[in-house]
Amino acid sequence: MSLFDVYPLFDVTPVRAQDVYVYDHDDVEYLDLYGGHAVISIGHSHPEYVNNISEQVSKIGFYSNAVQNPLQEALAQRLVDFSGCKDYQLFMCNSGAEANENALKLASFHNRKHKVIAFKNGFHGRTSAAVAATDNAKIIAPLNAQQEVEIIELGDLEAVEKALDKNNVCAVIVECIQGVGGLDEDTTVFYQGLQALCRQYNTSFIADEVQSGFGRTGNFFAFQKHGLEPDIISMAKGMGNGFPVGGILIHPQIKASYGLLGTTFGGNHLACTAVSTVLNVIEKEQLMDNAKAVSAHFLKRAQELPQVKNVKGRGLMLGLEFDFPIATLRKNILFNHHIFTGSAKNPNVIRILPPLTIKESHIDLFFDALKAEL
Ligand SMILES: Cc1ncc(COP(=O)(O)O)c(C=O)c1O
Repeated sequence: MSLFDVYPLFDVTPVRAQDVYVYDHDDVEYLDLYGGHAVISIGHSHPEYVNNISEQVSKIGFYSNAVQNPLQEALAQRLVDFSGCKDYQLFMCNSGAEANENALKLASFHNRKHKVIAFKNGFHGRTSAAVAATDNAKIIAPLNAQQEVEIIELGDLEAVEKALDKNNVCAVIVECIQGVGGLDEDTTVFYQGLQALCRQYNTSFIADEVQSGFGRTGNFFAFQKHGLEPDIISMAKGMGNGFPVGGILIHPQIKASYGLLGTTFGGNHLACTAVSTVLNVIEKEQLMDNAKAVSAHFLKRAQELPQVKNVKGRGLMLGLEFDFPIATLRKNILFNHHIFTGSAKNPNVIRILPPLTIKESHIDLFFDALKAEL
């Protein structure tokens, strides 16, 4: 049987990984400035992570949500304390798309409306409502196109208000820093205006923090820079450091009822252990401060290169914009210098999404490679 061929693959076969490095079957070392798409937060195979997950699976790895799970309860409290999102409630699932799917569905249950507002170049996942809210016609199947979604230019509050005025919009979903789209971020005035309009029109305001959450930007959530209080916050990627886990934080004004949401695997014992270990390590190793410090160094180094037209993003969710497509440059950096980087929908942007444990010296290796290739 063959694999369903949907991924264009690089010819690299990682067999083990440690902190910011990945090793192939010939033991060639690759510097990971991509984090498997912003997933690796506390570093590959962190000893505390390996130890806690191994210990947990030897006790109990999984039981369904039909029984008490004190690990989930403890995690909910820890997340609220850590993020500062006071009194929010936690619902756990297994991926970013699932987090957004649940967020959109919950919004619609809450205010009984059905239409979604999303933004140009946004990406929210590949499931039903999440993909319909994603600005990429190529990945929306006719089945998904039945969802009513309006895609609006980022920054256009007037268009948002015009759409909300029809009183049928259940949710506005936004990435405060766009990931796949290419690191665009609007102003605090825009995001606060968006939140105010949502409140005015009884529409849920959803912050998609699947990529930008869990300390990646130097704040725990990217929206915190703008002083927002979203109704629902979706999370995944860095949350489990590679363990498949997602979740939503739900504002206390949204009430639960039995059966409203549900999942077999979400919030299992192993997932809870992975996430609580991630939080422990972020705190102990001060990884959000590290994200800010290394980011400042990255910015300084980027300014040395006249070919860089724009540095985008913040913390360790960064992009370098050139005035040419970066596909070949990225390939050369991988195969000639053994450094993984990411791409974006914007073909001129190279994306940098390393583990939050990265050091300035690793950034220097990247700029040496970039300089040589440019
Ligand atoms: C902002 C954002 N939301 C949602 C998703 C979907 O997450 P997943 O691939 O885990 O379903 C992604 C994935 O790249 C993302 O970047």
